[in-house]
Amino acid sequence: MEIGTIGAGALAQALAKRALKAGHKVKLSNSRGPDSLQEIVNQLGPGATAATTEEAAACEMVLLAVPWDNVPGTLASLPKWNNQILIDGTNPFHGKAGDFTPADVGNLSTSQLVAGLAPGARVVKAFNHMIVPNLEADPVVNGARRVAFVSADDDDAKKRVETLLETFGYSVIDLGNLRDGGLIQQAGGPLAGRDLLERGES
Ligand SMILES: NC(=O)c1ccc[n+]([C@@H]2O[C@H](COP(=O)([O-])OP(=O)(O)OC[C@H]3O[C@@H](n4cnc5c(N)ncnc54)[C@H](OP(=O)(O)O)[C@@H]3O)[C@@H](O)[C@H]2O)c1
Repeated sequence: MEIGTIGAGALAQALAKRALKAGHKVKLSNSRGPDSLQEIVNQLGPGATAATTEEAAACEMVLLAVPWDNVPGTLASLPKWNNQILIDGTNPFHGKAGDFTPADVGNLSTSQLVAGLAPGARVVKAFNHMIVPNLEADPVVNGARRVAFVSADDDDAKKRVETLLETFGYSVIDLGNLRDGGLIQQAGGPLAGRDLLERGES
């Protein structure tokens, strides 16, 4: 599996490390172009490459990992989606990373809003509930597996992200659609930031 990332900051790099460990490839991109990412991809090692946002978005699975305020502009700048899976890892906070001023998203879940800005993409909500140090840590803790949540309106896309997360080592819980599941795991929801462990087979 080759995963593209739109954004190459803390979340995208943590996902990249996890994906590379599981044997996948990662194409990272940001707004400043591939040259600005050489040091990062060198540090990530074999399997990581620097790309333009267009190249990253052409992967069959793409992580959206930009600050919330940049989501509309970023998505508007990309070519039309052609059924790729877009994993929405964003949270609705204004400002830069570490600024937790909540953004008003009206009556939609944040991923419904993202889906509306990315017609043709199959949006799956995942990763947003995990803080980066937990994502960077081993998914298996004393024999128990860290729990990851997925929500989507497209069942096939959700299943494929679930399978991806299982290759990382997570125990995955399907929270339902973008509306209901999204609200549960997004910032402000009851599962946001939770680091749960599951023991035994699931
Ligand atoms: N940090 C966490 O623990 C965590 C956990 C879960 C979810 N999240 C969410 O994930 C998102 C990203 O968070 P982060 O912590 O990774 O932020 P970050 O470290 O600030 O990284 C943001 C990345 O987005 C890139 N970017 C900004 N505008 C862009 C554009 N128009 N096109 C392409 N790339 C663009 C930035 O690079 P350039 O400015 O160079 O383009 C940077 O690589 C946020 O919505 C956050 O709420 C964060």
